[in-house]
Amino acid sequence: MDITDFDDDDDGGLASLIDQGLDGYGGFRYIEGELYVEKVPLSIIAAAVGTPTYVYSRQTLIKSYQKLKQAMEAVPAKHKSVRLCYAIKANSNQAVITTLAQQGAGADVVSLGEMERALAAGIPPEKIVFSGVGKTHGEIHRALGLGVSQINVESEPELRLISKIATGMGILAPIAVRINPDVDAKTHEKISTGRKDDKFGIDIDQASAFYQLAASLPSLKIQGIAVHIGSQLTDLAPFRAAFMRLADCVRDLRRQGHDISHIDLGGGLGVRYQHETPISNFDYAEMIANVIGPLAADITLEPGRSVAGPAGVLLSRVTYVKKGADRQFVILDAAMNDLLRPALYDAWHDIVPLCQPDGRQEIVTFDVVGPVCESGDKFASDRPMIEPEPGDLVAIGTAGAYGSAMSSNYNTRPLVAEVMVDGDRFALVRPRQSVDDIIKADHVPDWARE
Ligand code: LLP
Repeated sequence: MDITDFDDDDDGGLASLIDQGLDGYGGFRYIEGELYVEKVPLSIIAAAVGTPTYVYSRQTLIKSYQKLKQAMEAVPAKHKSVRLCYAIKANSNQAVITTLAQQGAGADVVSLGEMERALAAGIPPEKIVFSGVGKTHGEIHRALGLGVSQINVESEPELRLISKIATGMGILAPIAVRINPDVDAKTHEKISTGRKDDKFGIDIDQASAFYQLAASLPSLKIQGIAVHIGSQLTDLAPFRAAFMRLADCVRDLRRQGHDISHIDLGGGLGVRYQHETPISNFDYAEMIANVIGPLAADITLEPGRSVAGPAGVLLSRVTYVKKGADRQFVILDAAMNDLLRPALYDAWHDIVPLCQPDGRQEIVTFDVVGPVCESGDKFASDRPMIEPEPGDLVAIGTAGAYGSAMSSNYNTRPLVAEVMVDGDRFALVRPRQSVDDIIKADHVPDWARE
């Protein structure tokens, strides 16, 4: 097989390791028995930078972003405009953000740090949306000073603070109100955000009163409405339900005289980790055209996972194979501090060898774990696989989103290296942290030594 046909226009979803690769886009696939990222064998990256290492395919990143953009453009709709603001939280490596900025992406940010990252990657303030339930005075001040395109407000005290800060600065703050539509996204409990009891947004039944309050406060420019019901959605129905409620709400608000010209539909599109069938970009675009299109608004989408998730793997080496009385363990050099998703959400990620199985080897069931001192440090339970040898390399799939971004120094494990591949070239886009870096970051007061 040759990777020159890498630009096949296959959509993600029903990935097979042969045709569409581990990522559904052809960015990670076996070529003559060896796992490649684009045109580079992953084993070469392991030899060059060691393990564990996150490896990103620049072309997959571009494709996943473009697929959504093209779907939104291809479906006829009455929207005034559509813009994609990449949710930086999914993967905040500067090389990732810069790649997307070059494609024209804006940014959805939830902290001062993410705002600065977006700017540093060349995303102009007018393409930045500032979301989040607990924005501080300093963050709001910086956002307004920069001239970000919109602040999505989530509570009354936040609304009052924005008004006060903008008044002090002598400017108008462009705001949208994030609505909580009370819709169950039917995804993992910890990443559902649109039910009445979740901490996010303004109860949809109180929207009218909230906009009225906003209209009465000084220095606010009410321009829109926002919603985000959760992440890793693989069913269109909850999106549709939420957007229909939102559309009704917009009609009411407009009748009441509010200028709702911007509609931010959040992120949430799921990816294939195991057997899920992701929502097709076109079905999503079509539903939005039908439900939101008639409102003739400027549309913002905030995709994170669907853009970055398929574009990364976590490359790791087997340290030991441990055979217990009842269970067998593959112990990797990667751990829960490097990729938290399995421990936190019981998330399923592919774990594949770098040498392609030929179908003749015996399949054995292993628990795949890391070295951290917690039983939760487990990437997979009862996973059927070919028994590896210590020293063998594996790739943990679909780890481009919420992988590195959620990593920590737990157990004083240095943050891992990150590499980006583009065709036959690759670069270290974040060097491996050293233990020394970690130790030096702490300060010991003299009196601690007394
Ligand atoms: N917009 C807002 C306001 C959000 O809160 C999020 C994600 C997004 C956009 C992007 O959503 P996406 O397209 O990535 O689904 N750590 C979890 C996911 C947390 C998502 C948080 N909010 C995980 O690993 O599954």
